[in-house]
Amino acid sequence: MNILILGSGGREHSLAWAVHQNPKCDKLIVAPGNAGMTAIAECAAIDPDSSGAVLRLCEEEAIDFVIIGPEAPLAAGVADALRDTGISVFGPSAAAAELEASKRFTKEICDAAGAPTAAYAHFSDAHAARAYVEAQGAPIVIKADGLAAGKGVIVAMDEATALAAIDDMFGGTFGTAGAEVVIEEFMSGEEASFFVLCDGEEALPMGTAQDHKRVGEGDSGPNTGGMGAYSPAPILTQALQDQVMAEIIRPTLAEMARRGTPYQGVLYAGLMIENGRARLVEYNVRFGDPECQVLMMRLGAQVLDALQAAAEGRLAEHRISWADDHAMTVVMAAKGYPGSYEKGSVINGLDALTADSFHQVFHAGTGTKDGKVIATGGRVLNVTARGASLADAKQRCEAMLSEIDWPEGFYRRDIGWRAL
Ligand code: AMP
Ligand code: GLY
Repeated sequence: MNILILGSGGREHSLAWAVHQNPKCDKLIVAPGNAGMTAIAECAAIDPDSSGAVLRLCEEEAIDFVIIGPEAPLAAGVADALRDTGISVFGPSAAAAELEASKRFTKEICDAAGAPTAAYAHFSDAHAARAYVEAQGAPIVIKADGLAAGKGVIVAMDEATALAAIDDMFGGTFGTAGAEVVIEEFMSGEEASFFVLCDGEEALPMGTAQDHKRVGEGDSGPNTGGMGAYSPAPILTQALQDQVMAEIIRPTLAEMARRGTPYQGVLYAGLMIENGRARLVEYNVRFGDPECQVLMMRLGAQVLDALQAAAEGRLAEHRISWADDHAMTVVMAAKGYPGSYEKGSVINGLDALTADSFHQVFHAGTGTKDGKVIATGGRVLNVTARGASLADAKQRCEAMLSEIDWPEGFYRRDIGWRAL
């Protein structure tokens, strides 16, 4: 089978690593991919958000199955274009991808499905939004409705911050994503991520994880795309997973199907857990990055069969084999990230590292120059390991990190602190 993965980050490297181990995988292409993947896949320099470019590549390379990594091609309708041409694809339609592309849409689905989530109101003008905040008081959460690369959420601990966020959003800081604003009740508790494969009707849990969004140790400093993750997340007990499946995931899938826009792909539920109950913070319509890296490390080659079962409506009879293991990934980022940072610094020491089913370095933002690996992004490497316990996995990560020679990079040493 010829397989195409769309995307270019550590998430897509880990998907490629898992998929290429499956004996069913003949040719593997990642578009556009990155320098770290070239040993296991061909990279194709096309725009993954362009349906036309993706369809042409599929025809040229006789692609049988497409896995869509990031949200942008999904929101742009690339999955729809592939399905219309009869190519098997893992990932939701643009209509179903609204679960990530519009916060207001997700809130309306939760209302219709009776799924527990924060109380909310939505606004299309600043005056009414300000009046609402003044009436509700702080803490309160202000969200740009549309896709804002993870930056469109302001958790305001005081009213002045909330009012400033409203002015920013309606002032155009997030472009059209902020033309509409959702204001939510502040939820306290512990956050965790739950990943579920969906085939339009059936849902199959695919693992739990916890991410570390702040740049600094002790969860300090500005928010990032994620500085590290581990799986499983011990807080998501089987009882909580059952609650989430029964009260949040299944009713959401039923409501999406009822509307004629069934959901197929991975549904990533961001949850807030307090007093033994989970509420939905948000949905994403893709794997998390770097959460995907730890899920792939644990699941390995069977991922391809599971993603195909979801794409082909066969999840009812599909099973995932779980090992009683743990995985951790530590993000190495360029100094300065998530602010401005230098590109082009050389990373040494990667070649000597052990690479096997317990140790992998997934590349997120690298290139090559004069035969050397260079940093080309903010989040650059995902140092990932698996072990019998989370402490084992962390020890393996630390051993790899100590061998990587990259003075211009940094990482958090406390990944996993909640669970360790
Ligand atoms: P989102 O993009 O919706 O996941 O929001 C980003 C982050 O903001 C979440 O991971 C939470 O840490 C925080 N957040 C979002 N909504 C709420 C809420 N209603 N209460 C508390 N924290 C929230
Ligand atoms: N790591 C958070 C996300 O992928 O949205």
